[in-house]
Parts: sequence; structure tokens; C-alpha cells
Amino acid sequence: MKKLLTVLLVLTVASSLAFAGGGQQGGGSGGVTKGMDRKIVMGYSQIGAESEWRTACTNSVKAAAADFNIELIFSDAQQKQENQLQAIRSFIRQKVDVIAFTPVVSTGWEAILQECKDAGIPTICVDRTVEAPNTLYDVYIGSDIKAEGVKAAKWMVDYMKSTGNTRGKDDGNRTINIVELQGTVGSAAATDRQIGFKEELAKYPNYKIIKSQTGNFTRAEGLQVMEAWMKAPDAGEIDVLFAHNDDMAIGAIDAIKAAGKKPATDIIIISVDAVKGAFEAMLRKELNATIECNPLLGPQIMETGIKLVQKQPVQKWIPSIEGQYDWTTAEAAYPSRQY
Ligand code: AHR
Repeated sequence: MKKLLTVLLVLTVASSLAFAGGGQQGGGSGGVTKGMDRKIVMGYSQIGAESEWRTACTNSVKAAAADFNIELIFSDAQQKQENQLQAIRSFIRQKVDVIAFTPVVSTGWEAILQECKDAGIPTICVDRTVEAPNTLYDVYIGSDIKAEGVKAAKWMVDYMKSTGNTRGKDDGNRTINIVELQGTVGSAAATDRQIGFKEELAKYPNYKIIKSQTGNFTRAEGLQVMEAWMKAPDAGEIDVLFAHNDDMAIGAIDAIKAAGKKPATDIIIISVDAVKGAFEAMLRKELNATIECNPLLGPQIMETGIKLVQKQPVQKWIPSIEGQYDWTTAEAAYPSRQY
């Protein structure tokens, strides 16, 4: 009986740690949170680990929690909204001081945000926006996602006009055929990048998106989708690839090479994120440009969490600071890249 009880106890502890995605991280067990007279607890629901960007974001959150001596209950949703809802409900039950979450998709958050509000727990929406009244959450920390799509389209048009691809420059008459690798369907990162890109593109009627499919923000799916496009009869007519993130672009580069084409010369490639893998691809002259989306949000999340617990006023949107890079700027910037 005693043995059975011990086994049950071990299993219970192990499963609660697994549910929290590895348990509490950051801050150790003692001390007080920076700027506070006690240690605060933050529950954070992360989407998963689909990309180089996401890993950098997770590392930044964990490191900042340790730095601010905030007790972090970290949960990995493995790309499922239902896991996020479950994790957030468990944070409420545990009476954490503040909840941060990155919404995998933008809809379906009203009820849970209301539950957080009713429990008196402030909420921070990180990296992706939600489609919900902004009175339901306290702050959004992250990029202007739509602007990333606009920047990508602007870079593409400038480059096609000034340099072009193997098929030639944009002389204003010839049709420029674009293929688009979308991120996770229903995520703000995919929806808003597409909206921004298309909005800018509408100014240039000779640019056409001829194919658009999701690659779920992963290298494997980016490769798979591009592979299929490179086998289609119109493969030779593709001028540009716009990928919603670097990982999908990197996967697609392999597919383009396997099809006997030269990435970044035959097909111009622009993506979003500016992770190290993208810089390496630019240095190999296989990727033309990447628009930065900064994943190092940990310090801003922790600072904001403390302010919210202290009931200090915070801005509704705390934007991340971002740039853009191409072949001409990649070499100088690469050594100082942190992700
Ligand atoms: O929400 C940000 C996006 O999610 C990044 O661009 C992508 O790489 C990630 O997985």
C-alpha cells in the first residue's frame, strides 16, 4: 500500500510538471522580484517550438524571468489553442499574479480573457494579437505585424525595379509572378502579414500572387509546399517567393535548389523574422532579404508584468524595435545578431 502511494505521488508530481511544460522556470525559489517586496508568479502560455524565432522567444522569456526573479510557470501548447485555454485555466486556479500568452490563432479568446478578468489577474498578450475587445486584456507586446508585410512588398518592388531576377527587371509591363508561403492559418502573424503585403501590392497591378499556401511556419512544410510548386508546369514562371517567416523560406530554398534553380537569382526570396539562419542564407546569397520581427520580448514582458501587479499604468501596445536586412547589410549585422 505504502509503495503504491509513493508511486501515485511520483506520477502526480511528474504529470503536473509535464502539464506546465517543464515546470517553473526562472527566479529559483527565494528572494523577491526586482522592484517588489515579494516574489511574483507569472504563468506563460507559449505556442510551441515551430521555428528558430519561437525558440529565441522562449529562451528570452525564461532568461528574463530569472533575471527579474519572477517565478515562471511555463506551458508549451504544442500549436493547440485548447492546450492554451487549459494552461490559462490552470494559471487562474493556481492564483498566479499575472498571465502572459502568445495566441496561436487570433479568435476564440473572449471567454478565457473574461475569466482572467473576473479572477482579477492581469493579462499580457505577446507577439500575436487577438481579435477581442481590447478592454479584455491589459497590454499587447509585439510587432506591428501588418507593417512587416508592407515592408516586404516595398523591398520586393524596389528590388524588382532596380535589379530583377533571371527573367528580367520590372519594366512596368511584364507580370511579376509571386508565390506566397503563409504562416499558421488563423494566426495574426499570417493574416496581418498577408494583409500588409497585399495592400502594398495593390499599388502595382503587374504583380500577381499566383499561388498561396500555408507552410505552418516550419522548415519541413515550407520545403514540402515549394517542392510541389517547383514540379508544377508553371514553375519556370515564378519570379518571387514571399515567405511569412525565415524557416519556411529556408525550407523552400532547398526545394528550389533540388529543382535545379538558383534561389535569390532565378526566384527572388523575401521572408520575415531575421533569425541567424536567414543571415547565413543571405551570406550564401540564397536569400535576398528578411524583415525583422524581434523575438527578444522577455525583458519587456517581465517589466510590464511587474507594473501590472503594482497597478501602474501601461501602454495598451508596447511595440518591439525592428529593422530590415538584405544582402548588402547582412554581413555587417551578422556578428551582433543575438538570435
Ligand atoms: O508570431 C511570430 C511568428 O511565429 C514568427 O514569424 C514565426 O517564425 C513564428 O513561428
